[in-house]
Amino acid sequence: MESLLIKGGVPLHGQVHISGAKNAVLPIMAATLLTREKCVIRNVPDLSDVQFMGKILESLGATVKFEDGTFTVQAAKLKGHGDYDLIRKMRGSICILGPLLGRLGKAQVSLPGGCVIGTRPIDLHLKGMRDLGAKITIEKGYVIANARRLSGTELFLGGRSGPTVLGTANVMMAAALADGVTIISSAACEPEVCDLANFLNAMGAKISGIGSPTVTIMGVKELHGVEHEVIPDRIEAATFAIAAAATNGEVQIKGARADHMHAVLDKLGECGVKLERNGPDLTVKRGSRLKPVDITTLPYSGFPTDCQAQMMALMALTPGLSIITERIFESRFMHVPELARLGADISIEGPSAIIKGGRPLSGAPIMASDLRASAALVIAGMAAKGSTQVNRIYHLDRGYEKIDTKLQKLGARIERVEGE
Ligand code: UD1
Repeated sequence: MESLLIKGGVPLHGQVHISGAKNAVLPIMAATLLTREKCVIRNVPDLSDVQFMGKILESLGATVKFEDGTFTVQAAKLKGHGDYDLIRKMRGSICILGPLLGRLGKAQVSLPGGCVIGTRPIDLHLKGMRDLGAKITIEKGYVIANARRLSGTELFLGGRSGPTVLGTANVMMAAALADGVTIISSAACEPEVCDLANFLNAMGAKISGIGSPTVTIMGVKELHGVEHEVIPDRIEAATFAIAAAATNGEVQIKGARADHMHAVLDKLGECGVKLERNGPDLTVKRGSRLKPVDITTLPYSGFPTDCQAQMMALMALTPGLSIITERIFESRFMHVPELARLGADISIEGPSAIIKGGRPLSGAPIMASDLRASAALVIAGMAAKGSTQVNRIYHLDRGYEKIDTKLQKLGARIERVEGE
């Protein structure tokens, strides 16, 4: 398995270009199944999750090509069930349920497995499909869904932790081809959900209220092929911003959508990080003294759970007491014991992590547990004294395009090696 070997203590300097958003492209790839015509998606990041989703689409009968950031797919013929093991392995693959049900009136999709950041149920996805008139059973590890015709209705998608991102995506895709009007209350407002809705509208769907908690979908008879450019990845941009601050550097983040990053930029500003916006670019520079901050993760437009781990690495370097409360996923603190190996002083009290920041960090071998935790460990490793080896970096390759190359260009001493 590959690892990243980092020699810490080098401030990041220079420019980095932000890739297309992973969380936007995965449901958009699934949405291409809604038409038999060709769809062309641009600004697609080369990530293992994207390659994986491509394989899932192929297993459903689609023809796919991925070259130079452009993903072309045509699902002229479509099967209602794909490869069990392929689908089971990636949680994002649950969003093929809506398109299969919408276009074919039937779907057989393996239940996505659990995951280290929490149990991650799909009850809201299934509730949404049932509300649209689908009959759903769980048999032998599969979700089996059938509906002669889906019918538009009013439905509520709020759960214990608020709206569901992929659940909203799934219901929007199914409802796009349903009879009549669907109104989703407590819909997710994440920019990635908006990108999907814009993609669907370009295909001929009739969706309004995009970006608000009430989304209205007027069902249409069929959708057509389309070309679309995916939005920039706000989580990747935030990760580089936090890395610039953590290493005491200055980085120009090119092509970021700062308007999608208000909560993160606000917290970085409160922390004392200097931020300058110039059109789509963002310059990030560590201020003279960082200050501790308290953060609670929330659905958009609140502070994103996907930036919580990276921010914790920064708070571990910031003198004073910071509290980070995780309100979206119950076990999303896997990075805490690994940050402790580097010398961070962090304790967990229920949904909160209490960080006594400012202790000097020193390099150690550490283990990546999930995608964003891995990014936090890389940030901490770059700020620590000495060498850090981050093992199991396949997690990083799921969601960050060429992160080691991008960091090297910013001056980081980081290389990919064979490891544990
Ligand atoms: C998406 C993102 C992920 C991000 C998360 C929250 C993708 C591919 N992944 O995941 O990076 O961390 O949004 O912003 O876009 N829930 C239920 N029942 C359900 C579905 C969800 O109770 O049927 C709960 C979850 O356990 C969690 C909360 O709702 O507590 C939010 O999860 P959700 O928004 O669904 O996350 P994903 O869409 O899976």
